[in-house]
Amino acid sequence: MADTPPRSSRPPQTADDLRSSFIDFFTARDHTYVPSASLIPHDPTLLFNVAGMVPFKPYFVGDETPPFQRAVSSQKCVRAGGKHNDLDDVGRTKRHLVFFEMMGNFSFGDYFKEYIIPTSWELVTETWGMDGDRLWITVHESDDEAEAIWHEVVGVPMERIQRLGDDENFWQAGETGPCGPCSEIHIDRGAAFGPDGGPRSDKHGDRFMEFWNLVFMQYDRDEAGVLTPLPKPSIDTGVGLERVLCLLQGVDAVWETDLMQPLIGKASELTGRTYVPGDYEHRDSFALRVLAEHARSTAMLVADGVFPSNEARGYVLRRIIRRAVRYAYLLGTEKPVLPELADVAVDVMGNAYPDVARQRDFIVSVLGKEEENFRHTLRNGLSILERELGDGPSTLSGSTAFLLHDTYGFPLELTQEIASERDVAVDTAGFETEMAEQRRRAKSARGAHREAANVDSYRSIIEEYGTTDFVGYATDSAAARVLDVLTTADPEVVEIFLDSTPFYAESGGQVGDTGTITTETGTAEVTDTTYALPNLRRHTARITSGSITAGQDAVAAIDSARRAAIRRNHTATHLLHHALRSVLGDHVKQAGSLVAPDRLRFDFSHYEQVTPEQIAAIETMVNTETLENTPVTISEMSKAEAEAKGAIAFFGDKYGDVVRVLEAGPSIELCGGTHVRATGDIGTVKVVSEGSIGSNLRRIEAVTGEASVALLQRDERELGEIAALVGSPGDASGGVQRKLDEIRSLQDEIKVLRAKLATGRANEIAESAVEGAVVARVDGLAPGDLRELVIAVRNAPDVDVAVLVGETPTGGVSLASAVTPGSPFDAASLIRDAAKAVGGGGGGKGDVATAGGKDPAGIDEAVTIAWAAIKSARG
Ligand code: ALA
Repeated sequence: MADTPPRSSRPPQTADDLRSSFIDFFTARDHTYVPSASLIPHDPTLLFNVAGMVPFKPYFVGDETPPFQRAVSSQKCVRAGGKHNDLDDVGRTKRHLVFFEMMGNFSFGDYFKEYIIPTSWELVTETWGMDGDRLWITVHESDDEAEAIWHEVVGVPMERIQRLGDDENFWQAGETGPCGPCSEIHIDRGAAFGPDGGPRSDKHGDRFMEFWNLVFMQYDRDEAGVLTPLPKPSIDTGVGLERVLCLLQGVDAVWETDLMQPLIGKASELTGRTYVPGDYEHRDSFALRVLAEHARSTAMLVADGVFPSNEARGYVLRRIIRRAVRYAYLLGTEKPVLPELADVAVDVMGNAYPDVARQRDFIVSVLGKEEENFRHTLRNGLSILERELGDGPSTLSGSTAFLLHDTYGFPLELTQEIASERDVAVDTAGFETEMAEQRRRAKSARGAHREAANVDSYRSIIEEYGTTDFVGYATDSAAARVLDVLTTADPEVVEIFLDSTPFYAESGGQVGDTGTITTETGTAEVTDTTYALPNLRRHTARITSGSITAGQDAVAAIDSARRAAIRRNHTATHLLHHALRSVLGDHVKQAGSLVAPDRLRFDFSHYEQVTPEQIAAIETMVNTETLENTPVTISEMSKAEAEAKGAIAFFGDKYGDVVRVLEAGPSIELCGGTHVRATGDIGTVKVVSEGSIGSNLRRIEAVTGEASVALLQRDERELGEIAALVGSPGDASGGVQRKLDEIRSLQDEIKVLRAKLATGRANEIAESAVEGAVVARVDGLAPGDLRELVIAVRNAPDVDVAVLVGETPTGGVSLASAVTPGSPFDAASLIRDAAKAVGGGGGGKGDVATAGGKDPAGIDEAVTIAWAAIKSARG
């Protein structure tokens, strides 16, 4: 055992102190502190950041040159919905969390095992004051070297070092990527927590709790599972902040730390249930832990720009929210719980993450709305369940349980609980079969989208020549060397790689450039430019004449007019983003964008429709900026300087010590795209559409420059055509107004004519009166017209009572009756029975009544019945 010098200061006691102690320890040892990246990773193979190393992946595999060789961070992580998925365990165990913070230190080809092993020991035993005699170590079964360092350099006795296999001591972030054997530090929490025997015999880690994982990054795993050695062995470590906090605060579970207690207290208050620490058997305490954790993790996800939806990340967020709401529901809590819980989550996390505090209202509103919607769905599901249980079946079918699960978010447990109250069992085997079928469908859908890109050939280009230099900020055309030409599945399409290029590769929403690449022997038309690997720009092209081969000198020229249009739309997007935030509020965040030559599209978070007045205000604001014609400036600075300047970067999780900051009018954003020189270059910005694309997500589209002019011209042409059509050149609205007036007066005229026609017919019908009564069949009139007619008949001299029945122009039947006031008849009762003969009914009071029916075959019978009614009324 190494001698442990007396501690210089008290070990940290709070989450904030603990985080600082880790960061300070490593910055004092030449590590660059890198703030936590967003939970949304750049890495397309992962849904969320699952470990501290994720943002650094390109450095480990050598796709990018790290700006520093040593780094330290405390990274926000979410483990739900992917390879690392702890969602279903949350609440059941002492330590599983969806959201947690991973403190870590990293070496990119700098130090290796011999440095990190003794250094980690120093931090744990000296800075954190843990008793070295209680620490146990595991190493990979093949790792003699790590074992020797722990034993010989640090002095850990052999009986407290154990070797474990790949399951325990080999680490990787996803199915592919950097990985390697690891060594873990565990603490023995004493006999009260289980039997002796070390981590090997304590799989749940109740007694021998793992808290620091040192990964010796040595390989890169490809899609076939093959391990290739990394350019340089590296180090990636991860310490769960919440776990260490437990140890330092002397509590048994993360739930009892200062991060979780305020949340559990609030959950208990809202549900009226008592929390019993250490109770893993009963539903109440379990549900309270779930509510606490999920309020914190969902608040952190929303703060990083994830919104509840039915796709990918948004869907995982939705599942976490639903899990929380279900448990609140199971506890019988009718009122929403998430808004108040999220408020406490912001209190707990806001100090370490000021952007979370800034977004308090927005987080509360997004979670509140989603809870409200889900509670509505739950109630609908409940009525389906009630219906199924209504006839007292002996079992509830697996397909109903599955429907409730899949569409209405009912966990099987909830369905079972409600069914068992009626002594009904649930067919769980049937439910499982449906679940398995759904999983199979989901899997084959995923399989269909797998990329077949040949990563190895791209890697070898980087290995041989390095990545592509981009010269397209300054020039549209440049000399370059052809490094490689790859064929593709389409015999006419090739992929061309150059040492440097003015072609912008699609990223940050901006589409890739098109243009030409010409050599002595041929010309290629570039149809798109994208990244094959980070910083390796790929020109997808058709050879239009001759041939192009590796090693040739070339001239690469982009389509300048197209790029100029893209530039206008890109800078306009920044101005629009700024105006949206000014008009709608700071919660507006970019959720996606497309910068194309013909238009720009911007997706953003917002919870309600943007009104026409707001759109007009946004348009005016943006166009005021373009008229100012101020220079657009681009500068490079450190991320910290950019933040101090107030620059906005929502998608940024990629580290680099230097970032590109774009200032256009009042907008300051981190951006790698291409932009105009001054805002006036954009021309006029015109919004063309705004609408919803999902819950809390909106999309706005706009045009600039020539496209705005084209839009104006199109509108003007259309207006001209309208004016010509209404015979009023130069005055469309006046012409349309006159046409509308004309239509209105024609309608009035029709009414008068109809009335005249009706009176003419009325006289004719009245002539057939027998002792003051008329019943007649009149087909072809709409119900309103028949009613007018019957009144006119009754008004004829010598008529007391009139009933008309006829087929309407739409094939129905209409009946109408009118009587002279003071006569012995009641209009409604005269046609009540007649209406039955045509399959209908109707009403009315007093002197005039109407009824309808649907069977014209009964009209003659209805006439007879009406006569009979008149007779009987006369007595
Ligand atoms: N990347 C390692 C882990 O997550 C340190 O455990």
